[in-house]
Amino acid sequence: MANKTSSIVNIEWKPDKTSNIPIFKQIVSYISNKISKGDWLIGNKLPPQRALAKMFDVNRSTIVAALEELTSLGILEGKSGQGTTIINNTWSLLMSASPPNWQRYIDFSIHKANSPTIQTINKLEFVDGITRLSTGEISPELFPKEMMKKVLQRVPERAYSLNYLEPLGLFELRKILSQHLTKYGIYIPPTCILIVSGSLQALQLISLCMLQPGSTIFTEIPSYLKSLNVFQSAGMKLSGIPMDSSGIMPWILNKKDNLEETSLLYTIPTFQNPTGRLMTETRRQELLDWCKTNRLPIIEDDAYRELWIDEEPPLPLKAYDKNGMVLYMGSISKSLAPGLRLGWLAGPESIVERLGDVKMQTDYGASSLSQWALTEWMESGLYEQHLLILRKHLKERRDLVLHTLETYFKEIATWNTPAGGYYIWLRLNKNISTDRLFEIALSEKLLINPGSIYDFSNNQHIRISYSYASPDELVKGLIKLSELIGEMYQYY
Ligand SMILES: Cc1ncc(COP(=O)(O)O)c(C=O)c1O
Repeated sequence: MANKTSSIVNIEWKPDKTSNIPIFKQIVSYISNKISKGDWLIGNKLPPQRALAKMFDVNRSTIVAALEELTSLGILEGKSGQGTTIINNTWSLLMSASPPNWQRYIDFSIHKANSPTIQTINKLEFVDGITRLSTGEISPELFPKEMMKKVLQRVPERAYSLNYLEPLGLFELRKILSQHLTKYGIYIPPTCILIVSGSLQALQLISLCMLQPGSTIFTEIPSYLKSLNVFQSAGMKLSGIPMDSSGIMPWILNKKDNLEETSLLYTIPTFQNPTGRLMTETRRQELLDWCKTNRLPIIEDDAYRELWIDEEPPLPLKAYDKNGMVLYMGSISKSLAPGLRLGWLAGPESIVERLGDVKMQTDYGASSLSQWALTEWMESGLYEQHLLILRKHLKERRDLVLHTLETYFKEIATWNTPAGGYYIWLRLNKNISTDRLFEIALSEKLLINPGSIYDFSNNQHIRISYSYASPDELVKGLIKLSELIGEMYQYY
């Protein structure tokens, strides 16, 4: 080791000239390393530039570049006539400022974090060996692989490029969607449809472009929306409205409930998440009338519409909307593949244009490959064929789960029979902590979504999904879950 006042005289190391790392960078690393390890000390002088060039077997200009970098970092100091001296030796000092406190940045950021339970669920869904009793996706077994192959083979023939697309999204896709929506009584031109990267993005854009801090978003109790922070992070308030068996009951609100100019109502009338409930046709009319009278615009989230099992659901609210007060959201995440990240928003042209402009500023548009693929899915008729098969499977799975509940849960819970979608909203007879049940179930490798994620207050429910786990896993997992609940009941 050199002593404090001495010069460094001998350097054995040479840079690797075959490496991709620039030579001067290698020299910077080598010298920094020597200093931070304590081999070279503060006050030591480096050999003159010419000597260094010889020792490292490089040009003098490379040495100049390396020394300049180390000087700018505050590690070395060069004085004319006195050579180059080491003036700092710890990384925190060498960096001249302490490293940024990232936690502080995170703590002060605008967007709220997911709840710890949701973060745990999001991570554990990817751990092998866990049975997912609540996941809101279609099972990999149900993914239409062969059809997808056909679709993807055809895409290159028609996708004239994979460049960015126009602000509202691929015209061909908007055109076929405009035709598709007529099946549901929605007559809207392609210019009133915005393609989004999943319907979650539509909510994000609405929060950015149409609302202001302090606005109130009304929604069903319980609701999928409560499991997100999309509106709360933008400073808006989420307020719950109770449901009865026919759907949301907005008349429970009264004037004091912030029904001001900038409020909105978000609803999932068809196979609601998490309750699976289907709003009746009469209630749809009542809701629209009430919202019209009270000038409360509606966001209708229709992500589960195509997954009907027993019979086609009533038409969407949007189909009865004569005054342009419904923004309609659709998605293929539940019916085909959430990984394609595609959804759409249909509404008045001025709104769609505005959201499209902000979308361009956010991500330059949803994946053009996905948009071409979905156009092909729809135009070829494969999407409809796939839905026929999917509905059949969902019916079998729903009936299997209902039968299992009937056999093992009769004494411990009650539940609804969904007419479509993915979910059964299981209500436990005793008021045990479903968050504790979540932990106990996890120790048995069962992943459940406790109702507290979706509710506005404490809750005795679990969201069961029959769409994801295999039939065998569903039965075994539910039997185990019934035993765990039974054990917890003994202490309540
Ligand atoms: C009602 C509802 N809307 C939207 C989504 C998310 O859709 P996307 O993947 O299109 O963002 C979900 C997913 O769980 C949902 O349940």
